[in-house]
Amino acid sequence: MKKLVIAIDGPAASGKSTTSKLVAERLGYLYIDTGAMYRAITWKVIRNKIDLEETDIIGELAERTSVRLEKANDEIKVFLDGEDVSKEIRTQEVTGAVSAVSAIEKVRTVMVREQRKIGECGGVVVDGRDIGTVVFPNADVKIFMIADVEERARRRQKELERAGATVDLSKLVEEIVTRDKKDSGRNISPLRKADDAIALDTTDLTIDEQVDFIVKKVFERLG
Ligand code: DC
Repeated sequence: MKKLVIAIDGPAASGKSTTSKLVAERLGYLYIDTGAMYRAITWKVIRNKIDLEETDIIGELAERTSVRLEKANDEIKVFLDGEDVSKEIRTQEVTGAVSAVSAIEKVRTVMVREQRKIGECGGVVVDGRDIGTVVFPNADVKIFMIADVEERARRRQKELERAGATVDLSKLVEEIVTRDKKDSGRNISPLRKADDAIALDTTDLTIDEQVDFIVKKVFERLG
């Protein structure tokens, strides 16, 4: 059976990663979490105490950095220059800085090149902000996931609670709105629905319903 490229874009905390991971499992495809790649570079920037204004230095740093995603049991592990940074990249510190780092042209060039390399043979579910528009404009199935911001904040809060952190809901709403604004307002590859992407509002859907919807679209595409 032909191995497709499935592009899943959408704003912060719209349920992309959980859904994409499950869709990939159902299809026996590889899941590529491109947000995790930008987060890993951001973590390196923070750890090296580089000012976010130093865009040239950050761009060069990205060129000299290896980011690898690896499936371990049920989880996707993220390796930065060989070191497991899966936990570090999910901290509020990284979340607060990742939009600035991912807006740097050179960083995007390097990341997009790597993402295309991983997905060139198909059989991938790729989630991010610019997958259907820039990384894989010819993707076989394109989904644009959206959800009410309050619902997204509640989901993020649950996720953080599971990881042992307590964060106020209104703070999360504010953070999500700020990040969406930055991600859709940047000059290079802004967050945008591709014209041929299918919009999927997940506000009132369960994870299973979201997964079923996408898998159905994939089978329709496969005929
Ligand atoms: O999906 P996420 O929240 O883990 O993504 C973190 C940030 O990375 C997001 O705020 C914007 C950036 N990003 C991007 O610019 N392009 C992508 N393809 C994926 C993520």
